[in-house]
Amino acid sequence: MWDYTDKVIDHFKNPRNVGSIDKPDGVGQVGNIICGDALKLFIKVDSATSRITDAKFQTFGCGSAIASSSALTEMIKGKTLAEAAAVTNQQIADFLGGLPKEKMHCSVMGMEALEAAIKSYKEGGAPVVNELEEEGRVVCKCFGVTEEKILRAAKDNHLRTVEEITNFTKAGGACGACRADIQAVLDRHYNAASAVQEKAPFARLTMVQKIHRVEEALARDVIPGLNADGGSVELVDIEGSVIRVRLLGMCSGCANAGFTIENFVEKKLREQLDPAISVESV
Ligand code: FES
Repeated sequence: MWDYTDKVIDHFKNPRNVGSIDKPDGVGQVGNIICGDALKLFIKVDSATSRITDAKFQTFGCGSAIASSSALTEMIKGKTLAEAAAVTNQQIADFLGGLPKEKMHCSVMGMEALEAAIKSYKEGGAPVVNELEEEGRVVCKCFGVTEEKILRAAKDNHLRTVEEITNFTKAGGACGACRADIQAVLDRHYNAASAVQEKAPFARLTMVQKIHRVEEALARDVIPGLNADGGSVELVDIEGSVIRVRLLGMCSGCANAGFTIENFVEKKLREQLDPAISVESV
């Protein structure tokens, strides 16, 4: 028997915001019934303020999946899209006073459904299936978990063991045939991470080195993604670990510019160069 908090039990027995929204502005889906958990999240967004005015969910899953979905909808109502996009799976678990470690995958499912719903809104409202389930090599066939999803869970939650990956993604939790492969994915990630750490911190590079590395990372990892939506970005200035950029094209003046800077440009540069980097738009 799992040791649930009173808040988890309350949100399971009295889930808030169950159902669907008529003419939603965004719909995100994650999981599938065959794998035991599925969540469909509907959001309504005030386009003038980019604020989520309503959120509802339909969940197939265990009590903690229902409680996590209920908590998520309560957490995001009233938030701007940028604020909602910053919600982590750990914050969903914290909202509920914690989840048993074996049930952390329920909070991950909520975060991924939210990301898909926000993407759906930005793309016009058609339902979006979480892309980590759609793209990449499937490592765990029992639960359809991709290498990308394992890496994301490991990075976001500092997971180091196969058991922890199972708790956060379910991968490895059935037949176990994928467990050696999950370990190999973790080994590759942490070996690469230690190689990055051996590099000099960004703040200690010369200005010429910084400019070179930032422009290289922008060209390789950021600009192609923005170009796909008719936008781009250029480097304007660097001060210490603060990188100032200017959004161009369709990204310039976009209502979601703050979201793009924080959740795409800054995220990519931190991954590629140094976690201490911050990015500002000018
Ligand atoms: S393939 Fe991963 S548990 Fe069966």
